[in-house]
Amino acid sequence: MTDTTPTSGEAFESLANARRSVRRFSSASVPEEVMQSALRAAHLAPSSNNLQPWEFHWVRSGSADREAAVTACLSQPAAATSAELVFFVGRPDLLEARCAAMVAHFEAAGNDGTASYYRDQVAANIAGMSAAARNAWVDKSVALAAAQFMLAIKAAGFDSCPMEGLDPDQVRALFGLPADATVTMAISVGEGTPEGLYGPRLRFPLADHLREH
Ligand SMILES: Cc1cc2nc3c(=O)[nH]c(=O)nc-3n(C[C@H](O)[C@H](O)[C@H](O)COP(=O)(O)O)c2cc1C
Repeated sequence: MTDTTPTSGEAFESLANARRSVRRFSSASVPEEVMQSALRAAHLAPSSNNLQPWEFHWVRSGSADREAAVTACLSQPAAATSAELVFFVGRPDLLEARCAAMVAHFEAAGNDGTASYYRDQVAANIAGMSAAARNAWVDKSVALAAAQFMLAIKAAGFDSCPMEGLDPDQVRALFGLPADATVTMAISVGEGTPEGLYGPRLRFPLADHLREH
């Protein structure tokens, strides 16, 4: 084990329990440091082969892009009433470059074994994937970053809503993204209001989902 965690298992479960998808926010702003800290936490998410295929497009409250960003989220109340909006984007087109950066990193560190692993195996795996497989591969890691972001936002006392109800073409056009960038989801952030909770927490029993082997 490396670092110790600053929280107990119980405290983490209680944080996970407190995070809800909140669709209406008050007019309160979200401190800059809350956003920066949550983005740092998102960036610490694990990713396949550590290629970190994400991009976080943060549309700040006063941004000139704000209106277009809300429209790209189909003007959902969760977007329209939010203080901040972050689009979690995947970049399958950058996988080769990220892989090459890993090779360079490990070569510079004198770790020839890991450098050749990226040069030979990871690069070949990426090259051999269909576009659909690449997108799924990238989206998996981006979604983990998104989950980490939402928990960090809740830990700071604010609320969020993940949204895939959006128009990815509008999002790509807004941020100048290539056609093959995946828009994994948008996440709105703010101070949740009671009306923003559309119902009590609903989960099927864990026993329906858990198989022990
Ligand atoms: C990938 C993903 C996409 C979602 N898209 C939307 C959305 O477009 N609009 C919305 O209001 N909620 C959206 N949700 C929120 C879900 O409806 C919500 O997570 C689910 O009902 C469980 O509620 P909870 O998050 O409060 O536990 C999305 C959630 C995920 C994970």
